[in-house]
Amino acid sequence: MCGIVGILGTKAVATDLVDALRRLEYRGYDSAGIATVENGHLERRRAEGKLRNLETRLLTEPLTGRTGIGHTRWATHGRPVERNAHPHMSDRVSVVHNGIIENYRDLKAELTARGHTFETDTDTEAVVHLVTDGMQQGLGPIEAVRAALGRLEGAFALGIIFAGHDDLMIAARQGSPLALGHGTGEMYLGSDAIALAPFTDTITYLEEGDWAVLRRTGAEIYDRAGARVERPLVKAVASALLVDKGNHRHFMAKEIHEQPEVISHTLANYLDMAAGTVNFPPLGIDLASVSRVTISACGTAYYAGLVGKYWIERIARIPVEIDTASEFRYREPPLSPGGLSLFVSQSGETADTLATLRYCKANGQRIASIVNVRTSTIARESHAVLPTLAGPEIGVASTKAFTCQLSVLACLAIALGRARGTIDAAQEAELVKALTEIPRLISTVLRNEDEYEKLAHELSKARDVLYLGRGTSYPLALEGALKLKEISYIHAEGYGAGELKHGPIALIDENVPVVVIAPEDELFEKTMSNMQEVAARGGQIILVSDAESSKVGCRLATHIRVPKAHPFATPLLYAVPIQLIAYHTAVFMGTDVDQPRNLAKSVTVE
Ligand code: AGP
Repeated sequence: MCGIVGILGTKAVATDLVDALRRLEYRGYDSAGIATVENGHLERRRAEGKLRNLETRLLTEPLTGRTGIGHTRWATHGRPVERNAHPHMSDRVSVVHNGIIENYRDLKAELTARGHTFETDTDTEAVVHLVTDGMQQGLGPIEAVRAALGRLEGAFALGIIFAGHDDLMIAARQGSPLALGHGTGEMYLGSDAIALAPFTDTITYLEEGDWAVLRRTGAEIYDRAGARVERPLVKAVASALLVDKGNHRHFMAKEIHEQPEVISHTLANYLDMAAGTVNFPPLGIDLASVSRVTISACGTAYYAGLVGKYWIERIARIPVEIDTASEFRYREPPLSPGGLSLFVSQSGETADTLATLRYCKANGQRIASIVNVRTSTIARESHAVLPTLAGPEIGVASTKAFTCQLSVLACLAIALGRARGTIDAAQEAELVKALTEIPRLISTVLRNEDEYEKLAHELSKARDVLYLGRGTSYPLALEGALKLKEISYIHAEGYGAGELKHGPIALIDENVPVVVIAPEDELFEKTMSNMQEVAARGGQIILVSDAESSKVGCRLATHIRVPKAHPFATPLLYAVPIQLIAYHTAVFMGTDVDQPRNLAKSVTVE
């Protein structure tokens, strides 16, 4: 994740900007920079690598302005070199950005045709020239930003300052979080409250779609439609940890809402979004020579692996054997030397998964692990590590780690397909584009969260809940059932929708809610038939789908509409509704959402 800071100060801000950026280092970055308003014009200093390189630059080329923005960059579009480091600027505006501007190519072409000169490979620069173009057309800074925001597609956060405006900064949040800090005659901007801790603990969290006009006297906040809104002032938790709940009631809620940002960050590690290709790190194994893959994991991580199986078999045409680690290790399956064994684990410490890794290693397998903790035991014992960049996951119920695991597996499936020639460059570009759109689509789902609160009331009365899905929605049905079980304590089971008539349909009556996960893909009609079997027996159907209600053909208790996504990428998107169903049901039930009974975040015992 990139880090954003901004200060409207009463003294030179350069040093404080760098100090604030240092508190965001935990996000990971490969370059950094600041920009300030110096006697009416914009100046910037940038450096590759760590913040100390930027500090060295500032020692020899100091900045004294009282208005400034800063950024730590994790490269998404364009290599991690100084030229692509933020802030980006024209003679009128300077911008720092976190996230993805999906339509930047179209904007770049349009603005280039209008005479703007682009100097970098970044998507961010399109924002610079879009705002500049508005000001060149006579708009003031605020109107130019308002107009530009209406043209941007994607999941992003922005901080913007302007030449000739010493008491003005504009912030915008669309998918990546932003916090405003209130000081004495000063105002601050940060990707989270941690960055602002040295200056203030009085925070306003921007909501999804908000944008704000900051002056030293305070902030005016507007919603997506441009209407003025009020957001509460809160006291940030002075947390010794590098994590806090932000403006969420639970860590699980915060982590569900972080998914647009952390998925962008994880995808950026495996894709060249500018080129529309995978950019997979070397695994120490020739991907073209991989003829067999085994996957082993536990719980939610296992369900991620199960989706990975469908993807790798469908895209790369490689047979994949998968099993839960606690079964795999004792089954001791025969393994042909030279196979690729994949292990998926958020903590990287799960005992069963580690034991299975050691079995596979002892049997000549190439070991690759998808982990969220790069220093973990599983990572250290692997030949290759494929990190999920979800950041610390505190809630026991795994959410953002799950979708980041899916992100890595999706990129691996594409990389294997390209290496083996089972997909061509055009198909690769199509699949990469499908993944790039997911952060924005998840942001859309997260904007409609209140419908889940109503649904939670109904689900809380249930004794049993079924989850149904086909294809890559089948592992999501298993994951959805696990999420509900583990945090609300309501019994739930996931089934392949086609399995219903082979026994589970005996459970169906008007007291059994059935959650059906059904993107409008090649299996949709089949799943609709299963739904009609449920409806005919009085089952209460909760459909999660992008399909129009008119296409459903039976009575629904609830229809959770999801934006349309490429069939390949639907597991990443549909994970969020099933997380929200479980979360709001648990909140309604009053259980301990972040620390459910009997559970541990990492099961380091067998
Ligand atoms: C997920 O919500 C659960 N907390 C649990 O199933 C978890 O996924 C499993 O224990 C595996 O943990 P790991 O990913 O750290 O290996």
